[in-house]
Amino acid sequence: MIHTLHSSVITIAIRALGATLAIATTAAQAAAPTPASASTYQEECGSCHTAYPARFLKPADWTTVLGTLDRHYGADATLDATAAGEVARHLGVGSPPANVPAATALPRITRSGWFVHEHDEISAATFKSSAVRSAANCSACHTGADRGDFDEHSIRMPQGTRHE
Ligand code: HEC
Ligand code: HEC
Repeated sequence: MIHTLHSSVITIAIRALGATLAIATTAAQAAAPTPASASTYQEECGSCHTAYPARFLKPADWTTVLGTLDRHYGADATLDATAAGEVARHLGVGSPPANVPAATALPRITRSGWFVHEHDEISAATFKSSAVRSAANCSACHTGADRGDFDEHSIRMPQGTRHE
């Protein structure tokens, strides 16, 4: 019994190491983020909402977001070429594509499986309340969102809303 447990712990450790190496290899292919790309990202992509951490969308989805900034969820978030390059670098993707077909659906962190699962105890009324307004407004509840901190210990539900 103890032996079985021990070997499965080792298996998990080896898998985790494998995943870490796989991520490191992928990241090495795109230009690495720099302090300058991080501050451009915060400035350009954190002015209307939380500057969402890169880890919350797949690279292909970020590429779609960056290729559609002129029709960005009802807003115009167009960037000049220099800023667009820095933002792409920060998100770990290549240069933004020139022509994403008009019918392409915009990806949403807030519709991804893990997001729905983590927030399944929060009612639609809470997300729509005046203190929150939208599930995309992470910092209404995650007090560390602007620092990329989504740890459950930094969650404070706004007054008048409930998390059951
Ligand atoms: C002019 C304001 C504005 C700027 C600048 C802006 N956005 Fe947005 N963004 C929006 C709005 C509005 C929404 C929709 C929010 C909602 O549904 O509540 C949105 C939504 C998003 C979403 C989807 C959120 C979800 O529901 O999961 C992503 C991802 C996103 N923006 C990324 C970016 C990135 C990357 C940049 C920088 C290139 C950026 N945004 C800059 C206004 C902006
Ligand atoms: C209305 C408040 C609210 C909003 C808005 C919100 N969250 Fe959350 N989030 C929570 C609560 C509450 C939990 C904890 C759920 C639980 O453990 O029961 C949570 C959990 C999480 C977790 C898991 C944390 C952990 O350590 O287990 C992540 C990651 C997360 N949220 C990301 C986001 C992102 C990204 C956004 C914005 C796109 C967002 N959340 C918007 C309230 C919110």
